[in-house]
Amino acid sequence: MNVRKAVIPVAGLGTRFLPATKAIPKEMLTVVDRPTIQYIVEEAVAAGIEQVIFVTSEGKSAIEDHFDYNYELETVLKEKNKDDLCEELCHISNLIDIVAVRQKKPLGLGHAIWTARKVVGNEPFAVLLGDDMVLSDPPCIRQMLELFDDVQESIIAVQRVPLDQTNQYGIVEGTKKRDRTFRVEHLFEKPAAGTTTSDMAIIGRYILQPDIFDILDDTEPGHGGEIQLTDALLSLAKKRSIYAYEFEGTRYDAGDKLGYLKAIIAFGLRHPVIGGEFQEHIKEVCKNL
Ligand code: UTP
Repeated sequence: MNVRKAVIPVAGLGTRFLPATKAIPKEMLTVVDRPTIQYIVEEAVAAGIEQVIFVTSEGKSAIEDHFDYNYELETVLKEKNKDDLCEELCHISNLIDIVAVRQKKPLGLGHAIWTARKVVGNEPFAVLLGDDMVLSDPPCIRQMLELFDDVQESIIAVQRVPLDQTNQYGIVEGTKKRDRTFRVEHLFEKPAAGTTTSDMAIIGRYILQPDIFDILDDTEPGHGGEIQLTDALLSLAKKRSIYAYEFEGTRYDAGDKLGYLKAIIAFGLRHPVIGGEFQEHIKEVCKNL
């Protein structure tokens, strides 16, 4: 079965990025020339996804507005003969079909995904976290969809992390099946030091079978008092196969101050217009440190 829909949860509080995120959703913070959420939607589009389902909350309307038409602005730009800008805005509004559902309380990532169940229906779907940027070619979610075509089972994207940082991530233990692909045996949400020897950390890209919704129905709050997707995935792994996929590329946690700065540098250096000059500037700054 094809994956047509992508759930993008953006209902979190963004506390790691306060005070910047007090009145602005973290997904609307800019990396070079567009908000981080646009990169993520563009990744879904580039992978052939047909519909994006945002899981939003109070105070996040700027995200939906960003992908909507703004007739007033477009009219003014047309009057001023700023056709390029006008085209750019139309491109954003026409990117993809977007639906939004509300998570009424930030009860956790698992709960956010569950909130999208009626719009997703009974078909496999992708999940892209709204604050996780991945620089890769082909796009990370496309790499995962290629694997899904073959295995037709849920897939979690993972990256290797230093062992002393595993307590900051969801961690997967698994058996290698082929290049970059592991059959998931166990999952832990932010395990205490010494609980696992695995360094495979879950990042914000998943392909999920819809069985996950029934499991989430019964998943009790776990780490941090939140309904954890990792806990639901562990239950799913007991019923059917789940794969961990070590994607090719680099992931940036743009919901974290340092991760966000790293993303700006990585994406800025690759920008076709300003990348070269930016690189010269960084060299200069480093020379003077
Ligand atoms: P994070 O834990 O990274 O996001 O959740 P957060 O809660 O917004 O951030 P901090 O930790 O307070 O700084 C990962 C993703 O899941 C979404 C977030 O929006 C983010 O994209 N999420 C999290 C929800 O949609 N709802 C929730 O209840 C929790």
